[in-house]
Amino acid sequence: MADTLTKLAYQSFQQGKSVFGLTHKALSTSLLNLLAPRSERINTSGLSPELLLKVQQRLNQLIETDWADVDRGVYSASLVFDNPWADFFRFYPLLWLDMPQIWDRANQKRYQDFSENIKTEGYPSYYLQNFHHQTDGYLSDLSANLYDLQVEILFNGSADAMRRRILAPLKRGLAEMGAPNTRQTRILDVACGTGRTLKMIRGALSDVSLYGSDLSPAYLRKANQLLSEDPGELPQLVQANAEELPYLDRYFHAVTCVYLFHELPAAVRQTVINEAFRVIAPGGVFVICDSIQMSDSPELAPLMEGFAAMFHEPYYRNYTVDDMEARLKEAGFIDIATESHFMSKCWFARKPIEQ
Ligand SMILES: C[S@@+](CC[C@H](N)C(=O)[O-])C[C@H]1O[C@@H](n2cnc3c(N)ncnc32)[C@H](O)[C@@H]1O
Repeated sequence: MADTLTKLAYQSFQQGKSVFGLTHKALSTSLLNLLAPRSERINTSGLSPELLLKVQQRLNQLIETDWADVDRGVYSASLVFDNPWADFFRFYPLLWLDMPQIWDRANQKRYQDFSENIKTEGYPSYYLQNFHHQTDGYLSDLSANLYDLQVEILFNGSADAMRRRILAPLKRGLAEMGAPNTRQTRILDVACGTGRTLKMIRGALSDVSLYGSDLSPAYLRKANQLLSEDPGELPQLVQANAEELPYLDRYFHAVTCVYLFHELPAAVRQTVINEAFRVIAPGGVFVICDSIQMSDSPELAPLMEGFAAMFHEPYYRNYTVDDMEARLKEAGFIDIATESHFMSKCWFARKPIEQ
């Protein structure tokens, strides 16, 4: 049983991250007001006190749920304290230095703006975007170095706590299909980005064979760096479009996918789900974590609308009203269940045994 003191330490750690995220956002908004008072932006002060209270309650609940999973042994306490400190101290100043470029790009509505040295050939057109006005989209080392910090700030320090929501259902799903925590069990994280989800999975299932795929070579390099820090076998990372995974049919016991679907056009969402279905073994599980949607969190509609307007997220609005359950069913998945945690929603689905 994890003890009360460690829980208190975890709550303080999360509160610290939350205060840091809020302070960073307040400072950067003040600076933007000072430097470019007429810039286009969303006025977040319009959010009602009731809504802000609701958001805080959801964040507190997420932290409780995260700790409850430590308490019942889904993963160890060390996982919830994991934080890329070296990257934080190295790259946080760069985040500020990058900001004027971001503001400039956002103001001028330059949404497909890549440095000259970035090779953009061969990527799907929907991917060649400055998602969140990010410098070089997903295609540079600078972007990969800043990404985790940016996401942490956006979610007030809770990005990993939301990623960890896939771990309990993943472990349960594997146990139900009789797949043990050994090398023979294969798990693929699609759109693994900088590898934080793979790191979380390794923390909960130390001995399984892990695989990660992503379209960005820069993010894969970053994932390789992060995952090399841990003992044990290195997950196999491959550059691949989630629409065409370079794996055999029925190869994986489980596939996970975190924060990808809101960045895909509707038709591509279906293709990616179909592809996950193809590579999952009969009885295997598919676990998705992504943004909340209008159907499960209508009271948070102003936040979803603000996110779509404030950040460059061209497919987000459509995603928030997309029927992902229908898509999972169309692909052939069964036993579909959903949960919502803070700003995230998870889907759990199983491939039928008879497939
Ligand atoms: C918002 S990030 C999420 C990364 C990671 N899963 C996480 O938890 O932070 C989206 C990721 O999806 C990748 N991506 C977007 N479209 C893709 C596609 N069609 N195939 C493979 N990866 C894709 C991007 O390169 C990026 O790493």
